[in-house]
Amino acid sequence: MHLRTIAVMPEDEKRVRTEDASLTLRQIAELLPGTGQIMASVGECWWKCAYAARGGNWPLAAYFVRRVRSLQRNLAIVRPKYADDLVAFEQQYIVPALAACEARDGRAFDGVFAAATDKANELHVKWAKPYIRWTLPDEPPKDMEMSGQP
Ligand code: HEM
Repeated sequence: MHLRTIAVMPEDEKRVRTEDASLTLRQIAELLPGTGQIMASVGECWWKCAYAARGGNWPLAAYFVRRVRSLQRNLAIVRPKYADDLVAFEQQYIVPALAACEARDGRAFDGVFAAATDKANELHVKWAKPYIRWTLPDEPPKDMEMSGQP
C-alpha cells in the first residue's frame, strides 16, 4: 500500500505483519489480557501474599502486594470503567498492606488483608459478578518457600 494512504488510515485499521499473520492495531489491542485473565493472576498473587505473610517471608509478601498493584494498574488502562474503583482500592488497601509488610506487622497485615478481600468481593457484586467470591485457599502454595529468611 502507498505510504501516504497508510498515513491517513485510522489508527485501528493500521496493520502489523507478524511471521504468521497480518493484524490490525484493534485486533492486537483486543488480544491484551482482559479482566478475567488479569483477575485470575490477582487471585493467585493474593493467595501467595497471605501465606508469605503468615510464614514471615515479608519481602515475598510485599512482592506479591506490588504484583497485585501492578496488575490492577494495568487493568485500569485496558478497562478504564474500573479505574476509579481500582485507584480507591489501591489507596485504601494496597498502600496499608505494603506498609504492614515493611513493618513486618502480622496483626496489621491480617486486618487489611481481610478488609481488602471483603471490599474486592463487594466490587464483584457491584460489577455484576456476585457469584465470584474470592476466598483464601486452605492450603499454602507449594511452588515457593513461604517461610521467613533465616
Ligand atoms: C485482591 C483483590 C481481588 C481479588 C483477590 C480478586 C479476585 C478475582 C478473581 C479470582 C476473579 C475471577 C477470575 C477468573 O475469571 O478466573 C475476579 C473477577 C473479577 N474481579 Fe476481582 N479480585 C480483586 C479485586 C478486584 C477489584 C478491586 C475490582 C475492581 C473493579 C475487581 C473486579 C472484578 C471483575 C469485574 C471481575 C469479573 C471478570 C470479568 O468480567 O471477566 N476485582 N476477581
